[in-house]
Amino acid sequence: MAATVTFDPKELESKVKSMYRSVAENPAGEFHFEMGRAMAERLGYASADLDRIPKEAIESFAGVGYYFHLADLKEGETVLDLGSGSGMDTFIAALKVGLRGKVIGIDMTDEQRAKAQRLRDRDGFKNVTYVKGYIENVPAAAASIDVVISNGVINLATDKNNVFSEAARLLKSGGRFAISDIVTEVQLPEAIVCNSTLWAACIGGAAQQDNYRGQIAAAGMTVVKVQDNPTYQFISNNARGASKKFGVKSISLLAVKP
Ligand SMILES: C[S@@+](CC[C@H](N)C(=O)[O-])C[C@H]1O[C@@H](n2cnc3c(N)ncnc32)[C@H](O)[C@@H]1O
Repeated sequence: MAATVTFDPKELESKVKSMYRSVAENPAGEFHFEMGRAMAERLGYASADLDRIPKEAIESFAGVGYYFHLADLKEGETVLDLGSGSGMDTFIAALKVGLRGKVIGIDMTDEQRAKAQRLRDRDGFKNVTYVKGYIENVPAAAASIDVVISNGVINLATDKNNVFSEAARLLKSGGRFAISDIVTEVQLPEAIVCNSTLWAACIGGAAQQDNYRGQIAAAGMTVVKVQDNPTYQFISNNARGASKKFGVKSISLLAVKP
């Protein structure tokens, strides 16, 4: 495939927003990645949990792994979901923290938040709020969050150091950072990184796994556990090719703020 060699952050943002607008509004369309309930179950989500959240949020689920066993959410905790999309993980988190707890989802794509909000109001998830904004600059107080979660999002950020620093700032001491994301075994070549379509499809922006862990540590969090998610697979030929050649893969990771 011929790579587009333009790399402009604004162009990239509009490409990402356009892809995830389609994810919200047309989940049955064609994407480089799989979505929906069958994939969620394969990744490890319990069907008993999925049965209790809006099915439309599951249809637009574009996460890449399962990390709730690492997050170990407790009743009453405050959770922040970076890149909450159509809301699937915010609803799962809401079940786990209960009405004494609170879940905040932040996302830059209006259509994703609009869908999540509509489903929240329809199904009465009273402990969930959504915020318009960027994961690099979250409008929330320092040390106000027990657990930061995120699924398939940080790979899309052009400055991952900023995202990890924000997570560390927002977490209380002893707070957990539990995520799933795409990383690579070897550094991606420029032709892949500069292809904005592959970036928006969660491949081009993926960081080399040791660098990714290093950035989390540099932000002041201690990585406790990392596991591969071999059941996550890209579906388009382009995406599969890149994935095989450069070891592009899904991981779930737990880090704590000392
Ligand atoms: C792959 S989707 C995952 C959504 C959701 N976590 C899920 O599992 O379905 C990525 C989401 O992150 C959002 N996003 C990407 N980069 C972002 C940024 N820098 N700030 C805020 N949201 C962002 C997109 O709008 C999109 O909704």
